[in-house]
Amino acid sequence: MSAACLAQLGHWVELIEIDPDRARSISQGRPQIYEKGLEALLSKHLGERLHVSSIYDHIAESDLSFICVGTPEGEGGRPDLSMVQSACRSLGRSLRDKSSYHLVVMKSTVLPGTTEDLVIPAILKHSRREGDEIGFCMNPEFLREGRAVEDFMHPDRIVIGCNDPTSGELAESVYRGIEAPVIRTEIKSAEMIKYASNAFLATKISFANELGNLCKALRIDAYEVMKGVGMDHRINPHFLNAGAGFGGSCFPKDLSALIALAQSLDEKPLILRSVQEVNERQPLRLLELLEGKIGRLKGKRIAVLGLAFKNDTDDIRESRSIPVIMKLKEEGADIVAYDPKAADSMKRLIQDIEYCPTAADALRGADACIVMTEWQEFSELDEEFDRMRSRVIIEGRRILSCRDIEGICW
Ligand code: UGA
Repeated sequence: MSAACLAQLGHWVELIEIDPDRARSISQGRPQIYEKGLEALLSKHLGERLHVSSIYDHIAESDLSFICVGTPEGEGGRPDLSMVQSACRSLGRSLRDKSSYHLVVMKSTVLPGTTEDLVIPAILKHSRREGDEIGFCMNPEFLREGRAVEDFMHPDRIVIGCNDPTSGELAESVYRGIEAPVIRTEIKSAEMIKYASNAFLATKISFANELGNLCKALRIDAYEVMKGVGMDHRINPHFLNAGAGFGGSCFPKDLSALIALAQSLDEKPLILRSVQEVNERQPLRLLELLEGKIGRLKGKRIAVLGLAFKNDTDDIRESRSIPVIMKLKEEGADIVAYDPKAADSMKRLIQDIEYCPTAADALRGADACIVMTEWQEFSELDEEFDRMRSRVIIEGRRILSCRDIEGICW
C-alpha cells in the first residue's frame, strides 16, 4: 500500500516482500488484499517507478527505507515484534554495503520505546555502522482499510517522530505534494500518537454503543441522538455510529497492547478495559434481540448478512460476525451466511455453516436475518426480505432503508 502510494508521489520505490508468492502476485499487479484504488496504482507504476523483490536488494542505492511489517497481537496482548526484528536484521545487513547517510523510517505500529530500544540498536548492530551515519524516524500511519489510498493522499496530519533535524527533514520531504499539517515530535510520542488515536476512536464507538443500548431501552433512536451530539464541534460527528461493535486488525489489538503496557507500568487502564468490555458484549445483544422475537434459536434457520469487519473490505479479522456465528452455533441454529467479498476468508475460519452466493439465496426460507456489515447492497433487499419464512430482521449496522426492522440501538 505505502509503496504504491509513494510511487504515486513521484518516488522510485523498491518494495520488499519476503514471501515469494506474495511478491510474485504483487509484481503481476494482483495485491493480496482488496483495497480500493490499489490495483490501479500498481498497474500504473509497476515496472516504472515501482519494483517488487523478495530479497533485500538495492538498499544501498536508496536514500531511505520504510519498515512497514505487521505487528499482530502477541503474548499477553503486547505486539508480536518478530517481523520487526527480522526486518531490522535484514535491513541492517544490507546497509553494510552503503557508505553514505541512510534514513530508516519506522511505520509499523509499535509501543512507545520500541524504535529506540529495539529497532535502532538492531539496525546499528547488523549494519556495523555508527549512529550518526544512519538516521531514524517514527512515522505512524492512520490509513483505514478500504480507503487507504485516499487516506494516504489526503491525511489529516503527518506525524514524524525524530531525534535529529536532518532525519526529520528527509522524512518530511517524502510527503512533499501532500497538503496536510506536519507535526514533528519525539520518537516515543509519535509511537504513542498512533495508539492514542486508535484507542480514542474505539472509545467513541463503545461510548456510542453504551449510550445506544440505553437509547434502545428507552425506545429512542441512538442515531438521532448522536447526530445532535456530533454537531458540537468539540465532539464531531465521526465514529459515533452505534452498532455491533468494532472489529478489524487494529482497534482490538491496539487496545490490548495499550492495556498490557499500562499494566506493566502498574497503571489501571479503567477506560480502555471498559471500551473492550462494551465491545465484547455488543454483538451478543443482537442475539438477545433475536431471541426476544423468535424464541429459542435451536433449529431455526438464521441468515447472517455480512462477514467482513466493515464494508468495502474482505478482511474478517476480529469481525463482530465471528462471535455472533459462534454463539448461534452453540445455540444449535442453522446458519446461512453471505458476504459480497469476505465469504472465502470466513470459510477458512468456519467451515461448518452454509455459505450462499447471494443475499437473496441466504434469505430464502430463513426464519430471521441479522445484518452484520454495512454493505451498500444490503440497503436494497426489501423484496428479498419478503421471501423469508418470516420477515424478522435485526440490524447490527444501520444500512437498511425499510422501516419494519429492529435495530440494535434504534
Ligand atoms: C483504523 C483507524 O480508523 C485508522 O485510522 C488506522 O490507521 C487503522 O485502524 C490502523 O491502525 O491501521 P480500520 O481498522 O481500517 O482503521 O477501520 P475503521 O474504519 O476505523 O473501523 C473499525 C471498526 O469500527 C469497524 O468494525 C467499523 O464497523 C467500526 N465502527 C466505525 C463503528 O462501529 N462505528 C463507527 O462509528 C465507526
